[in-house]
Amino acid sequence: MPVKLTYLGHAAVLLQGTKTVIIDPFLTGNPKASIGAGNLPKIDYVLVTHDHYDHLGDAFDIAKKHKAALVAIFEIVQLPAAKKIHPQSIGMNIGGTIEAEGIRISMTPALHSAGVGAPAGFVVELDGKRIYHGGDTAFFSDMAYIPKFFGKLDVTLVPMGGYFGMDARQAAEAVKLLKPKTAIPIHYDTWPLIHTDPAEFRNQCRPTDVRILLPGNDIVI
Ligand code: NI
Ligand code: MN
Repeated sequence: MPVKLTYLGHAAVLLQGTKTVIIDPFLTGNPKASIGAGNLPKIDYVLVTHDHYDHLGDAFDIAKKHKAALVAIFEIVQLPAAKKIHPQSIGMNIGGTIEAEGIRISMTPALHSAGVGAPAGFVVELDGKRIYHGGDTAFFSDMAYIPKFFGKLDVTLVPMGGYFGMDARQAAEAVKLLKPKTAIPIHYDTWPLIHTDPAEFRNQCRPTDVRILLPGNDIVI
């Protein structure tokens, strides 16, 4: 079954298959958001890579409104604001995998910082399609093990805005280790500080297929 992946701007991504998943839903206050938090389709899972505001964003509000499961590192799910939202919250940790109806979610390491817990990435397997979202990770060579442990990646979402993490060159090296069918750059051009030319990233990723999505654009996997 095909999965529709929509880039919502910055690091926010929507996956629509038999389940609907939103990752790092920073929509309110995001100058590049393609949709408001109030206009989303019915969400089943809200995944948060770390607690920086440009990733946590509207996560708690969306989880509460949609009675969706919040999936994040243990310490985020233990926050008083998270405990209030819904009993379905799933606190996990790096290296672990959870399986629920129609979906498998694994948490991967990310080299970055966080207010509580630790920063992470996710491999999401939905309807037989495998998508990796790196969160805010910097480059680390153990990324090569992500497809080894969790399987061949259909899509890799790579932060490449520089300043807070990988620049285009480092992100392209990450893609070489991750070996996805398709790479999509994220986390750039939201503000001038992280302005990056995605064409540079695409050139350096050759021969990997790179799709440059504007906020609101989607691809079918
Ligand atoms: Ni961050
Ligand atoms: Mn960030």
